Amino acid sequence: MDPMLNMAVRAARAAGDLIMRYLDRVDTLHITAKSRNDFVSEVDKQAEQEIVNILHKAYPQHGFLGEEGGRQGFGKSEYTWVIDPLDGTTNFLHGFPAFCVSIALLHRDRIECGVIYDPLRQELFTAKRGGGAMLDNRRLRVTKQLVFEGALLGTGFPFKEQSNNDAYFGMFRDLMKDAAGVRRAGSAALDLAYVACGRLDGFWEIGLMPWDIAAGILLIQEAGGIVTDFEKGDKLFETGNILGANPKLHALMYETIAPHVTDSLRFNG
Ligand code: IPD
Ligand code: CA
Ligand code: CA
Repeated sequence: MDPMLNMAVRAARAAGDLIMRYLDRVDTLHITAKSRNDFVSEVDKQAEQEIVNILHKAYPQHGFLGEEGGRQGFGKSEYTWVIDPLDGTTNFLHGFPAFCVSIALLHRDRIECGVIYDPLRQELFTAKRGGGAMLDNRRLRVTKQLVFEGALLGTGFPFKEQSNNDAYFGMFRDLMKDAAGVRRAGSAALDLAYVACGRLDGFWEIGLMPWDIAAGILLIQEAGGIVTDFEKGDKLFETGNILGANPKLHALMYETIAPHVTDSLRFNG
């Protein structure tokens, strides 16, 4: 395995172990709200610190963009680790079994490798640019689903910022109409990993952050899928809007959401 990917796996597993040690005592955790419906616990912070410690020791020049720690050590190197130490915090705090650790490495603006680790199922999703995507030792491919009929889609509800609700629920209504089902599991990173491995045929969400999606974008691309913003562009980090699926279903999903894409959902909107 690539040495940097290997180090990311080590960091993700360490964070996952830490998260699991707290799972049966979430009621004792100190929880604060960063903003409306955006919670953080000491587990999120400790898990991020654990990841940063491991990666910083191995690569002292690299920068970090973490959900909890923000930007650290920028300017010394062209490499940046983008970290969501616990994606699905609300699930975790409720004991709802859908959360993960997400770590990606950027070289300049390009995602070079990504790791998503589900500590409950001990499933490790990895991707290396040009080297494919894996679930443990199995090579991943997106599904071959060509039509909405029979398709299982994933999404995330806009529960924090709600100014785009009309647009979102218009998309939801039209995508739900023909699909076999729509799931909202509560961890965007894990949802993207599930598109890469074929458990979901497609996924869309608005208003995500780079740490929610960086590793998942590469996983889907390396599994043969397409991931774009809502204008079929690559401004995913800038807009926070994501649409990922196999190539055929991506085109169909795009056609369905396009009439609902308002200016505020566009790049520079
Ligand atoms: C959240 C989860 C959720 C998504 C939110 C994210 P967090 O991340 O990925 O599924 O709908 O938009 O913020 O806060 O649990 O790391
Ligand atoms: Ca997240
Ligand atoms: Ca998080």
